[in-house]
Amino acid sequence: MGAKLLCLFLASALVAYYIYTPMPEDLEEPWKLMLITASFRAVGHMAEVADRLGLMHYMEALMLITAAEYVAPASDENVTVTDTEFSNVAVRLFVPKRAPEGLRRAVIYFHGGGWCVGHAGMKSYDHLTRWTSNMLNAVVVSVNYRLAPKHHFPIQFEDVYSVTKFFLQSSVLSQYGVDPERVCVAGDSAGGNLAAAVAQQLLEDSEVKTKLKAQALLYPALQTLDLNLPSYQQNENKPILTKPLMAKFWSEYFTSDSSLTEAMATNRHVPIEWSHLFQFVNWSHLLPEELKKDYVYTGPTYGSSEFAQKYPGFLDTRAAPLLASDAQLRGLPLTYILTCEHDVLRDDGVMYARRLQAAGVPVTHDHAKDAFHGAVMFVISPTDLAVGHRLLNRYIEWLNENL
Ligand SMILES: *[C@@H]1O[C@H](CO)[C@@H](O)[C@H](O)[C@H]1NC(C)=O
Ligand SMILES: *[C@@H]1O[C@H](CO)[C@@H](O)[C@H](O)[C@H]1NC(C)=O
Repeated sequence: MGAKLLCLFLASALVAYYIYTPMPEDLEEPWKLMLITASFRAVGHMAEVADRLGLMHYMEALMLITAAEYVAPASDENVTVTDTEFSNVAVRLFVPKRAPEGLRRAVIYFHGGGWCVGHAGMKSYDHLTRWTSNMLNAVVVSVNYRLAPKHHFPIQFEDVYSVTKFFLQSSVLSQYGVDPERVCVAGDSAGGNLAAAVAQQLLEDSEVKTKLKAQALLYPALQTLDLNLPSYQQNENKPILTKPLMAKFWSEYFTSDSSLTEAMATNRHVPIEWSHLFQFVNWSHLLPEELKKDYVYTGPTYGSSEFAQKYPGFLDTRAAPLLASDAQLRGLPLTYILTCEHDVLRDDGVMYARRLQAAGVPVTHDHAKDAFHGAVMFVISPTDLAVGHRLLNRYIEWLNENL
């Protein structure tokens, strides 16, 4: 009896230890968030084990969450939902049933998941895009671009770019009753990265006649140069995206060579030949004092030139839109940027907002002090969080007023 009780006690202590993560005081619903974080951590640990044992690639194991969350396309009373292809790329299409008052607005949406996981058919993304379509009476195209580790940069970018170009053709816009002056790109996390890259590339593409009205970037990843920004240091282990996982996502976007992950995790992947790019991520003057806290800017760290030679993609603006020059930023459309305080990617978004404003682009920058990376995904019971609903409503409200 005593031994059994002791075992039970030890087991509970172990589970509690695993689940318990200290949470910043300003995050609401800490216990619910702890459970969510523990589930993500557990999947991460299992993926690590599966990878080490050679059973499957780390990202393929993470992809199991995506598969478990999949829902088939299903129309409801408000929106017609179909899976189809645009320009040979899979998309999930949401068309409102409500009669339009004139031409409709449209949102081309790119899901998050570190270029490696995620799907337009995940419950949370299906909900987000369906909600957008219903609330704005807009056509929403949610793109299932190809993912790493099977496909690396620039495939992800090229897929979303070709869908966007296809959709912006006047014949396609008129087929869906869309107003050519009211189309935007949007995305969260890696999807925000893709949206920012698409908006930049369209400026230089003489084949595309229709201009985007807006871009909406939810806690986007925007740069590969400095993975030791104050936000990376302050939020190294916050839910649900840790610094090591972000380094894995970034490096996997370009290659499965794990030596790039290690170099990125220690910020020794950029050679001195590329030092001129550091002005674009110089947090010494691009971040406000309250975000720098007591971190002192010491300048860039450099590594061997091996990585930039083998994987030049990480210095490409199509992968790292924050590395675009001021001249390339001018002319970008109306921009919405959401950043979260407790997020390794916070400073990417803050610096982009700052640079766009300096380049004369109209920007709405919402900084959520009480939020963490991925919060907008948590709006479906039983894992819904008040902060998720708040941020989602704010994003929809901005689109409604500005698109
Ligand atoms: C349909 O739209 C109405 C009004 O916006 C909303 O209350 C309802 O929940 C929607 N139905 C579904 C299935 O989303
Ligand atoms: C960053 O900005 C500071 C001043 O704000 C400047 O002293 C420093 O040289 C800059 N570093 C780079 C790499 O641009």
